[in-house]
Amino acid sequence: MPWNIIRLGTVTSTMDEAAGHPPGTVVVAEEQTTGRGRLERRWFSAPGAGLYFSAVLEHPEPAPIVTLALGLAVQESIQQTAGVACDIRWPNDLLIGERKCAGILVQFHGGRLIAGIGVNVNHEAMPPELATIATSLRMVTGREHSKEHLLAAALAAIETCLRLTSDEVLRLFARASSYVSGRRVTVESAELSLAGTTDGLDPSGFLWIRTDDERRHLLHSGGVRAVNIPRP
Ligand code: BTN
Repeated sequence: MPWNIIRLGTVTSTMDEAAGHPPGTVVVAEEQTTGRGRLERRWFSAPGAGLYFSAVLEHPEPAPIVTLALGLAVQESIQQTAGVACDIRWPNDLLIGERKCAGILVQFHGGRLIAGIGVNVNHEAMPPELATIATSLRMVTGREHSKEHLLAAALAAIETCLRLTSDEVLRLFARASSYVSGRRVTVESAELSLAGTTDGLDPSGFLWIRTDDERRHLLHSGGVRAVNIPRP
């Protein structure tokens, strides 16, 4: 796809700037004053340190499959650019160990899909409130990484991953994420509040959770948290 990349300095959120643009537009900013995450959270957007961009997409697949495909694309681009293998916590948090290094926000605007992607690239440290749950590529590798190379790799990987069929996305995601099956998790969402074990994806990309009474619950939105079982 011939991407039209718009580069900006300080914005509220690249999601706001991308809204109204045609498919193929990518808005990248150096800083976001009100960067947004999923579930009404904010996205810490330190000036210059992270890659913050929104891509306007036209895509026939339903949103859950696109969301998983975007996770695969960001995982691939981080591996290629920084040589770091990330896990994907369903639906699309990129983790190094247990700490988050990238996130994806998918929203609809005027019949188009806007994929907002934030990667913690060159942060030297995280603020105290995020220190135990977030990290950056620099903190993990001990060296700086090019945000330009990462953006180019991410856009190429997005093109590739959005060409996959739903079945391919589901199969690749199940391989790429340690969260798809056999993981002890807790769920706190508008629809469910429980603890259980992840038990695969349904054909739409939603996550099955099996509770200890052997009942299966399908998680459509929200997210999961790993339960770390203490070693004996
Ligand atoms: C999440 O993990 O909760 C999603 C985070 C998405 C952050 C990116 S940064 C670029 C784009 N602009 C935003 O305000 N959010 C997304």
